[in-house]
Amino acid sequence: MKGIVLAAGKGTRLYPMTKPVCKPLLPVYDKPLIYYPIAILMQAGISDIMVIVPPGETDTFRALLGDGSGYGVQITYAEQPVARGIADALLIGREFVGEDQVCLVLGDNIFYAHDLGATLKKAAAQEAGATVFGYWVEDPHPFGVVEFDENGRAISIEEKPRHPKSNYIVPGLYFYDNQVMEIAVGLKPSARGELEITDVNLEYLRRGQLQVVPLEKNFTWLDAGTADSLLEAGRTIRNIQEETGRYVGCLEELGLQEGWLTPEQVHATGDELSMTLYGKYLQCL
Ligand code: G1P
Repeated sequence: MKGIVLAAGKGTRLYPMTKPVCKPLLPVYDKPLIYYPIAILMQAGISDIMVIVPPGETDTFRALLGDGSGYGVQITYAEQPVARGIADALLIGREFVGEDQVCLVLGDNIFYAHDLGATLKKAAAQEAGATVFGYWVEDPHPFGVVEFDENGRAISIEEKPRHPKSNYIVPGLYFYDNQVMEIAVGLKPSARGELEITDVNLEYLRRGQLQVVPLEKNFTWLDAGTADSLLEAGRTIRNIQEETGRYVGCLEELGLQEGWLTPEQVHATGDELSMTLYGKYLQCL
């Protein structure tokens, strides 16, 4: 399975912070925001990753992430020339995905759960159809909202509805089989001029091939698109790390856990970063 991180948003809701620095490169406590969605892909067992960045920004992202070998993965870059919507990422990644399955994650979405890896690997192991998630939020208006029937089956998904039919939203993490390529090619822009990922999910729903997995209360999902949610995300990550003594989104640790890096490689990075707590953490792995 291939992985795509869509990190091409301008982050206008975070101006002036995002005028000189792209949103996915802003810090969430002790790491750049983009570490967290990359961590999601790695925990799903995906090591072949495309990062889609804003026009002209490849070198900035490459300065941070390189070719991925520091984390035991392969990272390639593509630019999204025009913000045409989330589903456009699938068209940009068409050759990269080829005949494979794909997991798409948004560059500002953060997930945390004790057993997150198991949930993600289960979704990645599904051979046919699509798997997305349902997460309860207080205010579902700004998101894709999923409605379930009495048997817990998804029956509708609406993008930013005026009258949401439930409090369950679909976070920015999508697992698709290769049908998604043909579905993405056939998409028409929505009223807001975007290729909507909700339309992709609706097509799978129509085909009877969409699985919506409700995330239990022990899951934390954060989208860091505004100053408040960015601050909240930083606080949450700090609290989790303090409480558990484990780092969230530590890519070197995940590379080690997946067997893609050796302890020696992780310790060498730890030595380079030994002036930080992050580096000291790596030295102890
Ligand atoms: C997008 C999707 C929406 C999803 C959300 C999760 O919203 O369109 O369905 O629930 O990401 O972050 P947008 O970022 O376009 O507001």
